[in-house]
Amino acid sequence: MRILGIESSCDETAVAIYDGEIGLLSHEVHSQTEIHARFGGVVPELASRDHIAKLLPLLKSILEVGPFSIKTPPQPINETILSSIQRASIQGIAYTAGPGLVGALMVGASFARALGFALQIPAIPIHHMEGHLLAALLEDPAPKFPFLALLVSGGHTLLVSVNGVGEYHILGESLDDAAGEAFDKTAKLLGLGYPGGPALSKLAEEGDPNRFSFPRPLTDRPGLDFSFSGLKTFAMNTLKTNLNKTSTDSLHQLHADIARAFEEAVADTLFIKCKRALKETKLTRLVVAGGVGANQRLRAKLRELESMQLCQLFFPRLEFCTDNAAMIAFAGYLRLKASTITERTSQSENSLEIIVRPRWSMDTLHT
Ligand code: KG4
Ligand code: ZN
Repeated sequence: MRILGIESSCDETAVAIYDGEIGLLSHEVHSQTEIHARFGGVVPELASRDHIAKLLPLLKSILEVGPFSIKTPPQPINETILSSIQRASIQGIAYTAGPGLVGALMVGASFARALGFALQIPAIPIHHMEGHLLAALLEDPAPKFPFLALLVSGGHTLLVSVNGVGEYHILGESLDDAAGEAFDKTAKLLGLGYPGGPALSKLAEEGDPNRFSFPRPLTDRPGLDFSFSGLKTFAMNTLKTNLNKTSTDSLHQLHADIARAFEEAVADTLFIKCKRALKETKLTRLVVAGGVGANQRLRAKLRELESMQLCQLFFPRLEFCTDNAAMIAFAGYLRLKASTITERTSQSENSLEIIVRPRWSMDTLHT
């Protein structure tokens, strides 16, 4: 079975093709960073418009330069996208139906459903965080079920007990800012551009780990929820307190030291909560995914759990931590194979109804 995946929930347009027997055939991501950078964050309307502009060219590109071009003769310029998809033997179209920006989601959903309707193949709505969660299964070795998943993205921080596809139990989540959001806001405070996470992380490499110590929020009480908004305030206060004692020459070092202390605090907090969750659930595998999962300090810290023999650790490759369509195509494949499309989907399967869910809890997913 061969599935086309489409991702457009935020500021990345992505397409991919996954084949059940061969694996991932091709994937492409177009990042909108340049468009949003000058505004210091994602502008939803610009995101939607760019998804509209990029989806079709990206799809054409993977159909033309992917492995199909080897198996099939060069395609004539005027060949329609529909016949290209038919020739590529696509049997289903998975798309991100939520959570995310409503306009951005609508672009991918309309595109996928229209193609599905025209080709009379299923269009499969996928939960973006389920895509992140399953991305580690694209790797070799893949984690076996059950496992604990730490999902750390720009919009969510979740600890999930995973028993199988669609069998998710949320153990803890962020009560305010997500980990990625805290990275982005703190980066902004330090005068770093958007997207903030990777920039802050780079600056932190120059930071002195012993100059400041930031709190580890909610670790001094039981439970597995997170709260990261206080860290951003702590960073702001640290900056204010030290600014007037700092010469222009050492301003860069002050920023780097704050970045370092912030990053250590996030990594350590996530480490403490994962350790606690592993002990409470007695799960022995930990999957880490989502954009912040690309953070090297977090990866190094979590490896300590492996050294302590508390778990076996699984990360998707870096490009599959951040938004991509490979994870969406793969999730669609698993769901279609198991015919685990939710009731809501099957109801709308034969209609032209297009539903997106900007807010959508993983707890409501089932097989
Ligand atoms: O999963 P993702 O690509 O998109 C969402 O679903 O939100 O995650 C994006 C988030 C952003 O907040 C970004 O700053 C953060 O992941 N991020 C990082 C790193 N790479 C991306 N944060 C810290 N260190 C990184 N290397
Ligand atoms: Zn994401």
